[in-house]
Amino acid sequence: MITRQLKHSLFAVILLCMLPLSQVKAQKFEELAKTPPMGWNSWNKFACDINEEIIRGIADMMVETGLRDAGYVYLNIDDCWHGQRDSLGFIQADPIKFPSGIKALADYIHSKGLKFGVYSDAGKETCGGRPGSLGHEYQAAITYAKWGVDYLKYDWCNTENVNPMGAYTLMRDALRSAGRPILFSMCEWGQSKPWTWAREVGHMWRTTGDIYNCFDCVNDHGTWKSFGVMQILDMQEGLRRYAGPGHWNDPDMLEVGNGQTVNQDRAHFTMWSMLAAPLILGNDLRNMTPATKEILENKEVIAIDQDSLGVQGLKYLSQDSLEVWFKPLAEGDWAFCILNRAQVTKEYTINWQKFNLTDDVSKRSTNFDTTTYTIRNLWTKKVEGLTKKDKKVLVPAQDVVLYRLSPNRIKK
Ligand code: GLA
Repeated sequence: MITRQLKHSLFAVILLCMLPLSQVKAQKFEELAKTPPMGWNSWNKFACDINEEIIRGIADMMVETGLRDAGYVYLNIDDCWHGQRDSLGFIQADPIKFPSGIKALADYIHSKGLKFGVYSDAGKETCGGRPGSLGHEYQAAITYAKWGVDYLKYDWCNTENVNPMGAYTLMRDALRSAGRPILFSMCEWGQSKPWTWAREVGHMWRTTGDIYNCFDCVNDHGTWKSFGVMQILDMQEGLRRYAGPGHWNDPDMLEVGNGQTVNQDRAHFTMWSMLAAPLILGNDLRNMTPATKEILENKEVIAIDQDSLGVQGLKYLSQDSLEVWFKPLAEGDWAFCILNRAQVTKEYTINWQKFNLTDDVSKRSTNFDTTTYTIRNLWTKKVEGLTKKDKKVLVPAQDVVLYRLSPNRIKK
């Protein structure tokens, strides 16, 4: 009798112990971002000026232009799609901008072989003054799951007295419990150093404030600033060891095709690929120049970003407006890049032997003294010899030279 009672209470104790455990163990959906996410987002080009016609047009163009097949699969609506909450507190779409509703839009996007993303905010209101998700996190997650959302960008405006770790973990748990795998993109601007705590929470986290559509400048808005491509690049210093498959540093969305020069756009796209950054386009795909299309669809550059090793590139040298970057790739290859930040063309002689390095993140070594690599220029798409001897290059103003180095394997 006593033993049976003991057994029962033991069983109850075990059950009790398991309960809270199963609750704290809510996890983000793994497998959603083994390589940096790729897609398009409405903010950089359209800001709040969006509607379902524009979004459908973009979906059509993602397919027609070949962008979807190049890997850009997420179509994300940013701020300002929101209307009011219903009487029970569930968020609804703006009935004027999205008269067919978000579910119909999601169905259309899915029918094109794309995935669909929305935007919300951890505070009371979004940055654009629409209802945020504070206090409605589980309702929001259920709503997104019902609509067929695949990606959530979660912003950080109007969050006075909200704790970032708590707020993002809460939303992570809400998404988990709603049951639909949704990629969780944290947009907290790097303020609480999310790279140090968010690996188990989000699939990517913004590392900085907003990008501004210029190559090398800061835009001071008074109470906040937005940053040019070079400024954002500099702010990535020291963060590479925190990124990897499933959890990426996000230096913000691309401005390629929004009016900078072709050289600047090429440099921007190259550096984001060297950073293994999410490649989220921000231009109007309905009228894209051939030069923009060529940059965004360069499969060999995309492959640098999407490399399965998932190691962010490193800046090895910085001198006289030139930067030399390396990114270790799967199967012994390296991406090698020279960035010219100056407004004049620069000449540089590459002495490969000066670049015998061991990367402390991947533990990989270049071994230029013992290994010869074939040099392939990823923008001209031509092989340019071997790393046996020095190589003189001209790097145009605010542009890059980008190579893929592949070790010459001994043929049997
Ligand atoms: C913040 C984000 C941007 C964008 C806007 C929308 O500034 O950082 O990326 O989502 O809000 O209002």
